[in-house]
Amino acid sequence: MKKDTKIVHAGRHPEQYLGAVNPPVYHVSTVTYPTIAAMTAGERKPFDGMRYGRFGTPTSFALEEAVAALEGGYRSVSTASGLAAITGTLTALLKTGDHVLMVDSVYFPTRRFCQDQLKRCGIETTFYDPLLGADIASLMRPETRVVFVESPGSLTFEVQDIPAIAAVAHAGGAIVVMDNTWATPLFFQPFDKGVDISLQAGTKFIVGHSDAMLGIITCATEELWHIVKSSVAQSGVCAGSEEVFLGLRGLRTLSVRLRQHQESGLALASWLSQRPEVRRVMHPALPEDPGHTLWKRDFTGACGLFGLELKPCSEVAVAAFLDGLAHFGLGYSWGGFESLIIPTTEGIRRTAAPWQTEGPTLRIHTGLEDPSDLIADLALGFERLAATA
Ligand SMILES: Cc1ncc(COP(=O)(O)O)c(C=O)c1O
Repeated sequence: MKKDTKIVHAGRHPEQYLGAVNPPVYHVSTVTYPTIAAMTAGERKPFDGMRYGRFGTPTSFALEEAVAALEGGYRSVSTASGLAAITGTLTALLKTGDHVLMVDSVYFPTRRFCQDQLKRCGIETTFYDPLLGADIASLMRPETRVVFVESPGSLTFEVQDIPAIAAVAHAGGAIVVMDNTWATPLFFQPFDKGVDISLQAGTKFIVGHSDAMLGIITCATEELWHIVKSSVAQSGVCAGSEEVFLGLRGLRTLSVRLRQHQESGLALASWLSQRPEVRRVMHPALPEDPGHTLWKRDFTGACGLFGLELKPCSEVAVAAFLDGLAHFGLGYSWGGFESLIIPTTEGIRRTAAPWQTEGPTLRIHTGLEDPSDLIADLALGFERLAATA
């Protein structure tokens, strides 16, 4: 089955719901059993079937089945947010004395979780240069349990050599965990590239409409799935029923939306790269991007999220550019139908590989508006910037 067909069918079982195309939303905490024998049988397989609302419902099982099929993994676990998927996975895998190799371009709250929570538990994190491929071997220790990748980084858009990193990690006995939110399962197949656990902030492209928080963890093997599912269940963090439904609903149109995000994002990125006010555009699908070769080798597409560096200009000029935009919201998210823009100069925190820029940096999430309207809006923004500079 091709991806576009799989995305329509995976996880759907109309025969179980009187023929309804989509599963209903199960509003449930309590589940009752017909007999004590059935109750005891359920305890032997705690995560299969309905036992208690927190462990999952037919709606969450459907979403998990669909995402696991698309990612190409064994099975998935849904969580209350993308960050909960990240922290739930790290908590499941790590214990006191372990060591984590964390990519320096990682989503900031993941960095903070390592620096605060993991450190408090006696787990050490070493941040590494995203551009290290097989050379990551020099940072591996006998106690390195997790090598975490996020490619491209969601602020600097550096592309990682994941197969090379995974080969080194596995040789050292470590588990490779990837934040695959930028590419989604449609544009990057994590398990073919050596990843063991793939994480999605479902909040972004899977939900796709900026109206729900959701995370999904997909594991390569049954063993890893049991470790992660048990730990997430013990933590008490589960995805809400409505959110899971919105994730499932968004998923069905992910491929058409993503194709449009890609096309419009490339139109904006190409236009911006020709503008005199722009020093460089950070978009791995542009041939001149430093990550382009790796992106072309490993990815099958690009979403509409990318960065740009302006030529040096004042904060007031940047504010004039941003404040008057009609079609770009100022918001810290992405993946929804609407375009967003944020300044990123202050948000890029690096400790292993310095990030050098001359001018202010911005991030654009290209929504589903007509790209010519978006370009016209940005052009007016540059006029305001020039008038203020
Ligand atoms: C790359 C990346 N991963 C994970 C997350 C966390 O997702 P959530 O906001 O659903 O917790 C985000 C959110 O912005 C993100 O950008």
